[in-house]
Amino acid sequence: MVAYDTKDSEQVLLTGEGEMICDEGSHEYKVWNVVHKRGRVPIKELPIRDTKSLADAKMLKELMKRQLVKTSKVISYSIRKGSKYAKEMPVEVTDLTADMLASGDWKTANFKPYNFKTLGAAQNAGALHPLNKVRSEFRNIFFNQGFVEMPTSRYVDSGFWNFDALFVPQQHPARDMQDTFFISDPPRADRPRPDDAAEAAMEEMEKGANMLFGTAEQQKERKPRDYERYWNNIKEVHQNGAFGSIGYRYPWSEDECLRLVLRTHTTAVSTWVLHRLAEDPRPARYFSIDRVFRNETVDATHLAEFHQVEGVIADFGLTLGGLMRFLEDFFAKLGITNLRFKPAYNPYTEPSMEIFGYHTGLGKWVEIGNSGMFRPEMLEPMGLPKDLKVYGFGLSLERPTMIKYGVSNIRELLGHKVDLNFIESNAAVRLDKN
Ligand code: PHE
Repeated sequence: MVAYDTKDSEQVLLTGEGEMICDEGSHEYKVWNVVHKRGRVPIKELPIRDTKSLADAKMLKELMKRQLVKTSKVISYSIRKGSKYAKEMPVEVTDLTADMLASGDWKTANFKPYNFKTLGAAQNAGALHPLNKVRSEFRNIFFNQGFVEMPTSRYVDSGFWNFDALFVPQQHPARDMQDTFFISDPPRADRPRPDDAAEAAMEEMEKGANMLFGTAEQQKERKPRDYERYWNNIKEVHQNGAFGSIGYRYPWSEDECLRLVLRTHTTAVSTWVLHRLAEDPRPARYFSIDRVFRNETVDATHLAEFHQVEGVIADFGLTLGGLMRFLEDFFAKLGITNLRFKPAYNPYTEPSMEIFGYHTGLGKWVEIGNSGMFRPEMLEPMGLPKDLKVYGFGLSLERPTMIKYGVSNIRELLGHKVDLNFIESNAAVRLDKN
């Protein structure tokens, strides 16, 4: 309706000191005045400040240097009637209605143009938790490399799947009351047996990844899982040694094995998936990201529960060098390009390696994961062939999330102190891809 032109100009204003000088005369004037009153020095001329001299660029510069004047921008507008000028707001039509079509009004209607630049109104919708955002980044990295997701819904599991099947001795410090939450009711688990729910979930994921076990014919030829033999093999490999291992040589307790625990690591799930692979041993890649529980002293960086990201790779002829190379590629996808490996100990892997990454912010090496090659004492009792080797590695989901979102206290991320505003407003995450 209205058109306008903008005119910028500069105005010169007196500073406080400049104003005083204008009222009372310059400092020099006052001095000279006094001198004059004493009659010692005759004053012939005094400098005169008028607008003419202010407009002089040289003079202006000099006065600005002495901080007697300053400049200020003046914006003025000249406004005139625009091409669509009207005294009343014209009605703009926002919807094309059936009535308008019927009456033909649409031909002359004044339609409001779409504003494609407008932002959508903020929706009062749900928001993904930062852990879920980082989790989905990890899932993509795994899916892109042909990994199949493992079913992780069994938070409560037996000692068998969490420890014994992994060749963790029954007197291992990790099993005692300090680290593991034991379940008292029910008092004990069943012996390992087929798990229909996990079986169905696993099949669903393999189907999605186009990695179902063989053809229908081949499936019929699969070795049935012999849980009785698996159980006895585990007992044997702990107590007396088997599969070329001398074992731990202690009286193995069935009660200890069947105690129910809140799983302490997702390697319990990996173990279940690997024993299933023994039906039809072949190269395979699996991953999981879910919750685990440890009875730890709660502080700024530890809770009694956290999430593990775990990967498992089974293939013939795998070597430790291959695992290191895999991990370098994997962590490079998270933006961590400088890795160091430190020999470590896990009862279920040999060799085992802690993974360190250089944290440029902290200026030091920090542990970012744990890894290794699963022991024959774990794989052979399942019925996996000797020459099928299996890599495993695990890391926490919380650590990269805290680094990504600049959270220094884990209680700001999980639990009752979490600020919902933080959850709703934080940005999507993108792990730096290489
Ligand atoms: N279970 C280990 C942990 O809790 C991680 C790991 C998984 C190590 C697989 C080796 C192989 O940290």
